[in-house]
Amino acid sequence: MPFRDRVPEYSGRIETVLDQWLPAADKPPHRLHAAMRYAVLGGGKRLRPLLIYATGETLGVPAERLDGPAAAVEMIHAYSLIHDDLPAMDNDDLRRGRPTCHKAFDVATAILAGDALQVLAFQILAEDPAMAVSPATRVEMIHSVAQASGSAGMAGGQAMDLAAAGRDLSLAELELMHIHKTGALIRASVSLAAQSLHSLAAEKRTALDRYAKCAGLAFQIRDDILDVEGETAALGKHTGADASHNKPTYPSVLGLEEARRHAHDLHHAAVTALALFGEASEPLAWLSEYIVTRSQ
Ligand code: IPE
Ligand code: IPE
Ligand code: MG
Ligand code: MG
Ligand code: MG
Repeated sequence: MPFRDRVPEYSGRIETVLDQWLPAADKPPHRLHAAMRYAVLGGGKRLRPLLIYATGETLGVPAERLDGPAAAVEMIHAYSLIHDDLPAMDNDDLRRGRPTCHKAFDVATAILAGDALQVLAFQILAEDPAMAVSPATRVEMIHSVAQASGSAGMAGGQAMDLAAAGRDLSLAELELMHIHKTGALIRASVSLAAQSLHSLAAEKRTALDRYAKCAGLAFQIRDDILDVEGETAALGKHTGADASHNKPTYPSVLGLEEARRHAHDLHHAAVTALALFGEASEPLAWLSEYIVTRSQ
């Protein structure tokens, strides 16, 4: 059965796992907990959890050992979206087909929901017994997510993005920004699954990392392309946001056609990196293709 046919099962699985880790809506502070649940549940492609489970399939790591890392990464991602949409950042009012968190609640609650989701991610990594890893590996995994989320990763990339508005960026600067703001967490997703198998040979770890670097950059290039040619109804967020903020993007720097070609080249490089896993890497190869062809 191709991985594509198992996506609905994994999507259901991560929804349940996220629901279980999130604080109950009837537990105070109610408004904060409701905002956290609103931002995380009931939407999103769950691409980062899918990458974790797909890496697990490739390496033979059972899904229950990866539920915690998958939930942790999705919590960081949801937090990054809440803050990305705030008036002081991209000032968006539509996300996943619904009002953004600060529109459905208020700005202060949205900031706090992001803060709380960020630390919940680390709490999960610190305490989930089903991960079944040694304390040293657990610390290594916490380190990976911290590195990918902070100023050397997503938050740093978001700072570059804000500083880039209204400016011309070289292709190298644009790539650096995308690798940080989006690539880092995607790379961490794959590496969390690899880390959970301590016996994994260094060359396999390196190959997976090469895959994830290419797929992560391709993902943001596709996001930029969809902001130009996608449909708001399919994406669940307003298109044209980058142009309206004068954000340099792959289509604005390279043109649409060249941006598309670049994303496809990265997809091919990602798949090439999987060669030593043979057929077992079909899930990751499929996800890489999905990343560059998706319309959502
Ligand atoms: C959107 O991420 C923001 C970026 C990092 C480009 P996704 O496209 O993964 O958003 P959801 O989770 O599916 O809503
Ligand atoms: C967001 O990039 C990246 C992160 C949230 C870290 P974008 O600003 O392009 O994401 P969208 O298009 O609003 O989803
Ligand atoms: Mg943004
Ligand atoms: Mg945005
Ligand atoms: Mg975008």
